[in-house]
Amino acid sequence: MRYWMIATGCALVASFAIACGDGKGGGSTTSTATAAATAAPKPASTELSEVEVAKAYEMRCSSCHGKTGKGDGPGSAALNPKPRDYSDKAWQDSVTDEQITKTIIYGGAAVGKSPSMPGAPDLEQKPKLVAALVKKVRSFAK
Ligand code: HEC
Repeated sequence: MRYWMIATGCALVASFAIACGDGKGGGSTTSTATAAATAAPKPASTELSEVEVAKAYEMRCSSCHGKTGKGDGPGSAALNPKPRDYSDKAWQDSVTDEQITKTIIYGGAAVGKSPSMPGAPDLEQKPKLVAALVKKVRSFAK
């Protein structure tokens, strides 16, 4: 009986799209319920901060592409061809965001480029981060 009541309570709360048991008091108001019903069911915490994107770039890309995106990171010396210099406007104009996205997730080989550009298949699950990295790559040319 007790369990049944708790479960029903959760279901009721959940129907207002408010997570059950998040310890935030659960004081649901009509406005949050309406907003939650129309918005995607993603909590704000999944939004990426600039810091997170910068960190991801630094951890995953800058060793080769360099902090300023010129393709001169410490790992670039041994590479041939060299990592892409993102500040190269002609290159920027020649690629689509889709191609950059594909390069980031599946690696150079997937777009007919050098296989020494590694893929990051785990990012397939993080389209927001990939989109942010594409933006970051674009930003180096400005
Ligand atoms: C191990 C070194 C290395 C790392 C780490 C690396 N890259 Fe690259 N990347 C390369 C190389 C080498 C190329 C050049 C490939 C070519 O021109 O054939 C390249 C090319 C690219 C290109 C250009 C593809 C094209 O169509 O010309 C993009 C975009 C790119 N990398 C993005 C990234 C991003 C974003 C990251 C981090 C998530 C990253 N790379 C991490 C080595 C690396």
